[in-house]
Parts: sequence; C-alpha cells; structure tokens
Amino acid sequence: MQLKSGLTRGLLFLCAISFRIGAILAECEDTQFECDNGSCISSYNVCDGDKNCPDGSDETALTCISQREHCNKPFFQCAYGGCVIGTAGCNGVQECADGSDETRLRCGNTDDKNQFERRIQGNCQEDEFKCPSGICLDKTTFLCNGKDDCADGSAFDESVELCGHIYCPQYSFKCGTGSCIAGSMKCNGVNDCHDGSDEAPLLCNTTRKISSPVPVTVEIPQSQEGCPLPLGDERPIIKGTGGRILTGPITHGLVKFSCERGHVLEGDTSSYCANRKWGNSLIPKCVKYCNSTGEFEGYSTNALCTYAGQRVDCKKPYHPPGTEVQFVCANGFKADGPLPDMKCMRGGYWNRQRQRCQQECGQIATPTKSFSANGYTINNTVVPWHVGLYVWHNERDYHFQCGGSLLTPDLIITAAHCVYNEGTRLPYSFDTFQVIAAKYYRNYNDTTPDDQIRNVTFIDIARGYKGRIEDFYQDLALLTLNEPFELSHVIRPICVKFVSFAEKESVTDDRQGKFAGWSIEDRHELQFVPAVSKANILCRQSLRDIKSDKFCIFTQGKSLACQGDSGGGFTAVQETLEFSGRSSTRHFLFGVISNAPNADQCAHSLTVLTNVQHFEDMILSAMSKSVNTRS
Ligand SMILES: *[C@@H]1O[C@H](CO)[C@@H](O)[C@H](O)[C@H]1NC(C)=O
Ligand SMILES: *[C@@H]1O[C@H](CO)[C@@H](O)[C@H](O)[C@H]1NC(C)=O
Ligand SMILES: *[C@@H]1O[C@H](CO)[C@@H](O)[C@H](O)[C@H]1NC(C)=O
Ligand SMILES: *[C@@H]1O[C@H](CO)[C@@H](O)[C@H](O)[C@H]1NC(C)=O
Ligand SMILES: *[C@@H]1O[C@H](CO)[C@@H](O)[C@H](O)[C@H]1NC(C)=O
Ligand SMILES: *[C@@H]1O[C@H](CO)[C@@H](O)[C@H](O)[C@H]1NC(C)=O
Repeated sequence: MQLKSGLTRGLLFLCAISFRIGAILAECEDTQFECDNGSCISSYNVCDGDKNCPDGSDETALTCISQREHCNKPFFQCAYGGCVIGTAGCNGVQECADGSDETRLRCGNTDDKNQFERRIQGNCQEDEFKCPSGICLDKTTFLCNGKDDCADGSAFDESVELCGHIYCPQYSFKCGTGSCIAGSMKCNGVNDCHDGSDEAPLLCNTTRKISSPVPVTVEIPQSQEGCPLPLGDERPIIKGTGGRILTGPITHGLVKFSCERGHVLEGDTSSYCANRKWGNSLIPKCVKYCNSTGEFEGYSTNALCTYAGQRVDCKKPYHPPGTEVQFVCANGFKADGPLPDMKCMRGGYWNRQRQRCQQECGQIATPTKSFSANGYTINNTVVPWHVGLYVWHNERDYHFQCGGSLLTPDLIITAAHCVYNEGTRLPYSFDTFQVIAAKYYRNYNDTTPDDQIRNVTFIDIARGYKGRIEDFYQDLALLTLNEPFELSHVIRPICVKFVSFAEKESVTDDRQGKFAGWSIEDRHELQFVPAVSKANILCRQSLRDIKSDKFCIFTQGKSLACQGDSGGGFTAVQETLEFSGRSSTRHFLFGVISNAPNADQCAHSLTVLTNVQHFEDMILSAMSKSVNTRS
C-alpha cells in the first residue's frame, strides 16, 4: 500500500499525512491511492468509510489511523480512523467500513446493552466474559486491552463490536478496533494493539511494517541476520563454546541456549549455525510459563493441576501455557457454586485469580467416635473449636497453660493472662507456646489420633492489658499459628458476631450457654458445661471491682469453672441466616474466661469473662488478615 502525495481533499485533510515514497513504483497516478493488491483508486476515496479497493485496504487502521486527529467535528470518526458524515453515529445506517458507528454497545438502549453483556458473559462469573473457545476471562484486565487474550486468532476480546465505542482519554492511544493503550506505547517499535495500528507506518513515519499485524498467528518474529532467532522475551540466552554470552546475530558455530527464570526453552539446548540455518532446523524459543508461586495456595481451597489431560504437581513454581487448575473447597469451607478453573494463557499469565471459599463455623457434628475412661465419655465432636495452649517448661517438656477457641484455622482467641509475664509486664515469646486442637485429654502426652499440634508465630494482646494490678482489664489475646489446622468434624471454628454499640452489654445478659474446659480430676477429660451469663451491671452486685469489659457466668449443677479453664470460650446457640442464607442454629462466642475471683482452684459458682464485644476492631482485623491473606 502506498499513498501518493498531494491528497488535499478538504474533508479528509489528507495533506497532513502526505507521504511520498512511491515514486519508483509509480503505477498509480499522483492523485491515486495504490491498494495492497496493486489496484489504483482515487485518493479522494481513501478513509471515507466505503471500501473502494477490492481488498478493502483503503479502509483499514494501518491506512487511516494517522488521519484520525484531523477528523474533527462535524465529521464522525470511525474506530479505525475513517472519517464519515457527522450524523453517522447511531443513525441506523452503517457508514463506517468497520461498523463502529452502529455497534450495539454504542447505540443500543439499556436493555439491549444488558442483554448483550449477558450474552458475552455466558456462563462465566460476574465481571467476566466468555471467549469463543469457552474460556472465561476477567473483563477489567483482558477486555479491550490491546492484546488478543482469547488467543484463538479471532481477537474476539479486541473486536470493534466490543471495543469500538470506548472513549480513550487524552494521554492514551486508541487502537484501530477501539481498545485504549498507554499513549507511550504508540510508535515504540512493538505492536501493542493487536491489529498493529499503534505502529502504523503513516502514523509513525516509518517505511516498513514492524511485523505483520492481523491475523495474529503463532509465527515468531525473527531477526534479519544470521541464524533465525525470535525477538523480545522469546529470544533465548545464547552462549558460545567458551561460555561467553553472545548478543549479536549468530552467523556460524555451535552455541548453547538457555532462558530467563520463568521461561522454558522449546527446542534443543544447543545447535550449530551455518548458512543462516540451524543444524537441527528448529528455531530455539523461550516460552513464558505462568508463575505459580502462591497462586493456588490458601487454606480454603484445594487445587488439582492438569496439563494435556495429565495430572501435574501444583507445587511446581512455573506451569506451561495450557495448564488448567481446578479447585474444590477445603473441608469446613463452602462456596455458592462450583469454583471457576484457572488456566495458564499463551504469554505466561493466568486467566483469573483463585476464588476463595467461605468458612463454616459454630456447628457441632454428630459424633463418630467416643472415648471412655473412669466413667466419663467424651464424644469426639463435643466442642470442636476448643484448643489447649501449652508452654515449653524448664527446657524439658510442654505443660498445659490455658484453653482457647478457634476463630479461623490459624487464629486462636484466648485470655491475655495466659501468655503474659507478670514479672516483665510483657507477653512471653511466641515460640514458647504450642496449640493443640481436638485435645480430649488435657495432658500434653495424653494424645489421641485426632490431635493436631501447631506452633505460635504471633501474639497480639489487647492494648490496655496490664495484668493483675489492673484486675485483668482487657484480658484478651489473639494467637496466630504457623500453619492452619486442617478442619474436620472434630476441628471447626466458632462463630463471632458483633452487635451495635447499644447492645454490647445486654447481649451478655441471661444467656443460656456452655463453656469448654477439662475436668480437674482423673485424666482431665474435655467437657462442655452449661452455664448462664449475667451482664456486667448484675455481676457488680456480687463483684464490686469487676472491670467494665467483663461479664460473669454462673455454673449450674455440680460442674465448676476451674483455673485451667482460663482462655476458653463461653458460647451460646443462636438462629442465624448469616452463613448459609437459610436459617441455621450455630454456636457464637460471647466471652473468654478471665478469672474466678475468691477462688483457689475452682470457682464455686461465679466466673468472670472478657466480653468479646468490646474488642470488635482487634478481632475483626485479625480475622480478615487471616482470611484475606491466607485463606
Ligand atoms: C486486485 O483485485 C481485484 C479483485 O480481486 C482485481 O479485479 C484487480 O485486478 C486486482 N488488481 C491487481 C493490480 O492485481
Ligand atoms: C517523517 O519523515 C519525513 C521524511 O523522512 C521527515 O522529513 C519528517 O521530519 C518526519 N516526520 C516526523 C514527525 O518524524
Ligand atoms: C513469581 O511470583 C512470586 C510471588 O508473587 C514472586 O516473588 C516472584 O518474583 C515471581 N517470579 C518471577 C520470575 O516473576
Ligand atoms: C455423645 O453423643 C451422643 C449422640 O449424639 C449423645 O446422646 C450423648 O449425650 C453424647 N455424650 C456426651 C458426653 O456428650
Ligand atoms: C511426656 O513424655 C516425655 C517423653 O516420654 C517425658 O519426658 C515427659 O516428662 C512427659 N511429660 C509429661 C508432662 O508427662
Ligand atoms: C514447632 O517448632 C519446633 C521448633 O521450632 C519444630 O521442631 C516443630 O516441628 C514445629 N511443630 C510444628 C507442628 O510445626
């Protein structure tokens, strides 16, 4: 395609791009335009919306994009650069050669547009669109970004139909099919628009095409001299026989190939170059693999990776394009529907991010096993959120310290005094503790196959906690574990819910609930014991010094709360719609056992608890950190 000089048609201002390089090939007249197949048409008919060349080469982005800026009102600018009559937009007649004046997204009413959007979404997630190949891609990232992300040659996600109507801000460049790319990518020597319009010769004042634009094929752009090598990211690192890195064209000799991290060599690791050909005729190429580090990890899901129908190890740091990853929710988690697959795309990126699952909480499953000794029976599901806190003692072994409750698979709520050194007025070092879940007998050594042990990596004590001298005001701590517990019917988190400011006291009044602890006798069996709570103001009648963040519970019958129960939770059941959308009964955490005033080892009725309602920010921020970064 050549454009002759002197095209001064007023409407099109083609003079602005007058570009004279065709003199030697002058088969068309000076006032004519040479079509790609060599036909000549009048230069007045170029970029006017009508295809006058038999091959349409007078109405393409490569020919017309550069005159776009000269197509001012009252003219209408087609996406590819053609300039047509001002009333063309949405007048029901297609005036632009690419139809960009009449696309559904430009001209349809709201219903039309919504219907169209739904069609593009197909059975993909919200905020995704479906490629003709069936793969789902995120709209914000992949739709109309210049790249053919569907990568099936159709450039579906970059079509005029989907992108033509988009408005691109001043500092950006609008590709010939409508997508916006950064302004700095214009004429930078790389095709950033899938149709190559950002490198159009007339736009960039270059005489040759950088690389063939449409259609996008797997063809590798190659350097011009020496043995063929791909350009850009795909070019391997080349070393001579001496191990020296060679950068220029390779003209002859034996060389070795390798790739940057994250890329994998396709072809042999070495080859002989002669007469601009490689000995084994394969062009070495570095293919970008998808970075898998951290992509499929998280305690809420389990991943299954396949490549070409074969199972592959998800733990590998990089996976080749074509790898598919399926997910299911981990035990104890659920999702509204099936979890979408991830796919590694050509170009080395994942088509989407992993979707997490939601945590289940506060439900006690039907027991599947029970343990009996000394006349006690313990059902294995008796209180699945209760854990034991153990402390490394005398450089020898772990001793029982306190109870605690599971908030997420790697977050424990307990009492601050359980992890606080009254002498130094600081928390003990986190690495002196271990946490054990499904602990049916209290002694560290008295184990069952259900036990799971974790280390503590972080201790967060309520900010106002000062210990005994302040009567255990703000006696609350959160412990983060080195690894999440594997949830099951015997290990499950408790639910927490925060009520309005006005209700934070009344919510602890007269609530029939239970607390967890280990018996002080025999083998220290795990128990889940009934108790009834009283709000702070009522506890005050018996306990003058009770701090404002506390409430109390009365145990019932012959069960008592004892010292070892510190840190454990007081919970009560409530109907809730929150977790499954339909009504279910779940256990919620109301308080953490703090101390039993006037008691030696066991409280003969009254126990003081920290009201979790007063620690909403601390608890919610630790829980969301666990969920947002590790689930
Ligand atoms: C270009 O193609 C058209 C239609 O196929 C044909 O009529 C014309 O002769 C071709 N021009 C040249 C110079 O080959
Ligand atoms: C375009 O090329 C012509 C001829 O080579 C040159 O005179 C002119 O300065 C160039 N314009 C730009 C914007 O580079
Ligand atoms: C892969 O991803 C991880 C985590 O995001 C990052 O630290 C690492 O640098 C990435 N590797 C490459 C080669 O980009
Ligand atoms: C154990 O579970 C069974 C069946 O759910 C129940 O009847 C029994 O009371 C439970 N025992 C204890 C000690 O919780
Ligand atoms: C636990 O067992 C170990 C080794 O069998 C022993 O050294 C330790 O004293 C025991 N600890 C307790 C608290 O029983
Ligand atoms: C806890 O930490 C100790 C010492 O750092 C280590 O030997 C042990 O394997 C860890 N245990 C768990 C369950 O991670």
